[in-house]
Amino acid sequence: MTFNKNILCIGAGYVGGSTMAMIAHKCPQYKVTVVDINPTRIAQWNSDDLPIYEPGLDKIVKTIRGRNLFFSTEIEHGIKEAEIIFVSVNTPVKTFGAGTGMAADLQYWEKTARQILKCSESSKIIVEKSTFPVRTAFAMERILSLTENDIHFDVLSNPEFLAEGTAIKDLEYPDRVLIGSRETPTSIKARDELIEIYANWIPKDRIITSNIWSSELSKLVANAFLAQRISSINSFTAFCEKSEADIDEVARAIGMDSRLGSKFLIPSIGWGGSCFKKDILNLVYLCRHYGLYEVANYWEAVVNINEYQKERFALNILTAMFNTLAGKKICLFGFAFKANTSDTRESPAIFIANKLIQERAELVITDPRALNNAKIDLNGIDGKISYIEDPYEASNGCDAIAVMTEWEIYKGLDFEKIYQSMVKPAFIFDGRNILNHKRLFDIGFNVFPIGKASLTHF
Ligand code: UDX
Ligand code: UDX
Repeated sequence: MTFNKNILCIGAGYVGGSTMAMIAHKCPQYKVTVVDINPTRIAQWNSDDLPIYEPGLDKIVKTIRGRNLFFSTEIEHGIKEAEIIFVSVNTPVKTFGAGTGMAADLQYWEKTARQILKCSESSKIIVEKSTFPVRTAFAMERILSLTENDIHFDVLSNPEFLAEGTAIKDLEYPDRVLIGSRETPTSIKARDELIEIYANWIPKDRIITSNIWSSELSKLVANAFLAQRISSINSFTAFCEKSEADIDEVARAIGMDSRLGSKFLIPSIGWGGSCFKKDILNLVYLCRHYGLYEVANYWEAVVNINEYQKERFALNILTAMFNTLAGKKICLFGFAFKANTSDTRESPAIFIANKLIQERAELVITDPRALNNAKIDLNGIDGKISYIEDPYEASNGCDAIAVMTEWEIYKGLDFEKIYQSMVKPAFIFDGRNILNHKRLFDIGFNVFPIGKASLTHF
């Protein structure tokens, strides 16, 4: 079969894997290859058991894999063959040297740029898919300009806004696709070529363009705004618990103001995920680099409130349970950072689990998808932890349940049955406000929601 375009993606993670599956699914005329340095990951993408859980992804991958979607470890061959290369390698926070804990670690990005330079035998379009600090494209351009022959590279910024758990829907019907480019004729031509790919399924008015730095910055700003909204509502959960106001009622009341909108006002134990914290800390680091200290402090507070929220939740459990957790069994309902994903990166559950273990509690963790990752996250912690998929079995014999993730299945459980099997007094800490608190109280539980009065029998 001949294809009319060869597309390569370097980095077979959540972003690269899902995005390329959608492009290949919508564009059978293109050959899409996803490569990765991690052979285990590639083997998983080629197996029946994909490395990530994302609703709808499995079906798409299994239909088109081997037709026009390929997963491979042959990075050099992939680079040679491709006309367009998406780069979606990870950009973790630096753990060494200047900017430790704040700045982006760009080593994988730079190595990838050098590898593209080394292996290319023809001109190519390079698309920044990963989230990067502003002006990263400039570094890529500089490295790629070291070419000794007639090869030319155009670097575009095309940040990915998909959220995990809804990635397929977000990719199929995005609010917008953003492409940042230079204003040079070749860059504009490259931009138009990328637009042509997305236009296979996305209405043209949703594909927007900007200068390359605005595009890079927009991704950081979008994540900062989203996290800020959650930190804002979470800051008021603390206020509500002191004042007998109810955070869900407040969120509904302000969300109906069309200027504010109702999304991202769901109170929680804190936001998690691989992006928010990393991207905001990057932004804060960049602001300080530019001498914008007030701006840096403003955004850093969004992260600080999130830490405070997690800390507060763990402390609430301790104080509610008579200031001692030693030897008590606590069941964590959910470990993923949000529902409908197996991902636990930066999940607030990791922090809470550690805090509870420090108090010498015994933990039972249940989650429909994330138990394997939970085991990795808590590996080596000195404490008693068990992992049980069935929530009834998991909560059996426990003193308390703490809801970490808003999985739909938890709403429909038989809490009479669960109550009967637990140690009394039985506690529920609903870190996502997904359960029927009044009903739980009537069953006999002592109920501690987020941002509203607790319901206790003592
Ligand atoms: C990551 C970042 O978290 C996100 O900010 C960025 O926008 C895109 O990359 P994600 O896809 O979720 O998002 O990351 P991850 O699942 O870690 O995937 C990155 C992949 O790149 C990994 O499979 C890793 O093995 C691969 N990689 C990394 C390479 O192929 N080459 C490298 O040099 C480094
Ligand atoms: C986020 C952005 O939404 C996405 O556009 C970007 O590409 C990557 O980062 P993601 O982290 O996958 O996506 O999930 P998101 O739905 O944004 O949730 C992030 C965290 O916030 C989760 O822990 C979630 O539970 C929490 N959250 C979200 C709340 O606590 N309350 C809300 O109202 C919404």
